[in-house]
Amino acid sequence: MNRSIKFLLAVSLAGCAAADPGDPIDTPEEEGMRWITIGADAINTAQMALDERLPGRVLTPVRMAGNVAVLSYDAADFHALSELMHARHNRCGGFMVHDSLKDAEDALRSAEAEAIAPLAVSYTLDNPATVNGMLPELQATRIVQMINDLSAFQNRYYTSSFGTQSSDFIFNTWSSIAASRTDITVERFTHTWAQKSVILTIPGTSLPNEVVIIGGHQDSIASGGATSIAPGADDDASGIATITEVLRAMVAKNFRPARTIKLMAYAAEEVGLRGSAAIATSYQSQGINVVGVVQFDMTNYKGSTKDIWLMQDYTNAAQNTFVTNLINTYVGATVGVDSCGYGCSDHASWHNRGYPTSMPFESAMSQYNPNIHTSRDRISVSGSNADHAMKFARLGVAYAAELAKGSLGTTPGNNPPTVSVTAPTAGSTVSGTITVSATAADSDGTVASVRFDLPDGSTVTDTTAPYSATFNTTLVANGAHVFRATAMDNTGASSAPSSVTATVQNGGGTCIDGIFNATGLPIAIPDNNVTGIVSTLPVVGNGTVATLALSLNINHTWRGDLVVTLVAPSGAQYIVSNRSGGSADNIILTNSVITALNGQTAAGTWQLKVQDRASADIGNLNSWSLKITGTCP
Ligand code: BES
Ligand code: ZN
Repeated sequence: MNRSIKFLLAVSLAGCAAADPGDPIDTPEEEGMRWITIGADAINTAQMALDERLPGRVLTPVRMAGNVAVLSYDAADFHALSELMHARHNRCGGFMVHDSLKDAEDALRSAEAEAIAPLAVSYTLDNPATVNGMLPELQATRIVQMINDLSAFQNRYYTSSFGTQSSDFIFNTWSSIAASRTDITVERFTHTWAQKSVILTIPGTSLPNEVVIIGGHQDSIASGGATSIAPGADDDASGIATITEVLRAMVAKNFRPARTIKLMAYAAEEVGLRGSAAIATSYQSQGINVVGVVQFDMTNYKGSTKDIWLMQDYTNAAQNTFVTNLINTYVGATVGVDSCGYGCSDHASWHNRGYPTSMPFESAMSQYNPNIHTSRDRISVSGSNADHAMKFARLGVAYAAELAKGSLGTTPGNNPPTVSVTAPTAGSTVSGTITVSATAADSDGTVASVRFDLPDGSTVTDTTAPYSATFNTTLVANGAHVFRATAMDNTGASSAPSSVTATVQNGGGTCIDGIFNATGLPIAIPDNNVTGIVSTLPVVGNGTVATLALSLNINHTWRGDLVVTLVAPSGAQYIVSNRSGGSADNIILTNSVITALNGQTAAGTWQLKVQDRASADIGNLNSWSLKITGTCP
């Protein structure tokens, strides 16, 4: 069993967390020989730490592979070693403790494992529709919100009550995002300490036994352990918020992966990668076929010119090439390469058990956020935005869709409701206070509400049938106005709007009283032609016709040929002259009173129609006008 414990110190090291000295789990008072793995560059440092207690004792590596050495080392020297690792290598911890030589050798072997391990999957970029369908769903503001929610806990320490509450919060947040999907499950992974890891599973449709893991750690740490103030906004609320936003996009687009996707919020990373070690051990013993692991630990602090840094140690070279291709194709960010120099996050737990991992990181190692593991690790350090984390969210979506494959589903069927305005009647004239009403129906649910958009710009929402709104028409000018209704059903889907146009006609103020002259004249009257000519005259004003007088000038050499008709806006007609006057010239009228059209709505387009019904003589419509006075309510 690989304990992978980084020993935390009762004294604090700048930039490193120190556990509460009163916490028995964090300050194991151990001595006796243990096996450790440590960077080969730090063997001299381990020798120096040993020299403090046993000067002259020579330390010889038991095994070496690549850049990693296995040492037989006394637990009594861990304290001195941690301090020296920090002082000389700027590493917090920087070595791993193993219970047996076999565990240490396993860790060592996996350092070289990817060179000999057969490729679990072929890394192809052939699923752009799925990636590009989800990318627009990602929203930086929601990442900000999640970082704020997580950093609002006093700490997320693995043994504190806050650490339990924050674990529940992640469980509840993921559960509610996934609530619309019956295939997605969210579970708690219980450990030997209080804080639980959280695992969300989207089962694969065609390759369910191949598992893709997107993870980050949920815990935070700062000096003071369980009672510390450890907002951990960057380390690693940013990673959990990034993963949570990837989840939202996958659910929003009803993504159905071919391979199984698991999102993991590991407990107790900060005290020795313990949550991920327990899970990876469990998965290994169950023979679960994990084809890829990506770790998001610190995504929202842009410490370097390049955007995304791929850690080379404890990761898989082939998958790192694939991740680089994903970034170039879908993220549009610049990529750097660096190394932690030790198993710095949960990817190492998977790597040490032979699984292919990647660790895309927020900065170069030398430029990482200096506020982590302190009470100053707040989002304000990153400008209170999630612009940098968005690049990692895009990468997360691309990784999910190109490694797990699969496609976007259609959203579960729901027919929107229908609505129809029933009052006022289209084309009617209305005045005073009126009732606007509508009927609505929903074929596969219930109508929740009908919203009325009224001519004065106000809206009224009615939630009970019969649906109606009252409207005071004096709030708007007289004339044509639109009354619109939109229904919403029980799922929140909206109907197509229904609208009618009615004329508002209120009294007072300006009742029509004026002379309206036709324009666009003269017009030649075609000889012996039943169609004739039509001249239009727009009239504006309130009221119905009280008095109407027509003035008209037609020159013609035989007025007995002509039929002249006046047409009101409603279509009502009055024949002004019907081939009367014999061989006389011209029709000239001055304020000729017409009573036949009294009571007609004055406003609208009036027409004068002139037909020449016999051959030989011709002429023109030169001018015409209407003098109208109105009656108003
Ligand atoms: N997020 C850090 C690791 C990190 C810090 C990576 C800075 C790169 C730059 C992580 O949460 C952490 O603190 N890890 C421990 C690992 C240990 C407990 C095995 C560490 O670095 O001390
Ligand atoms: Zn971290």
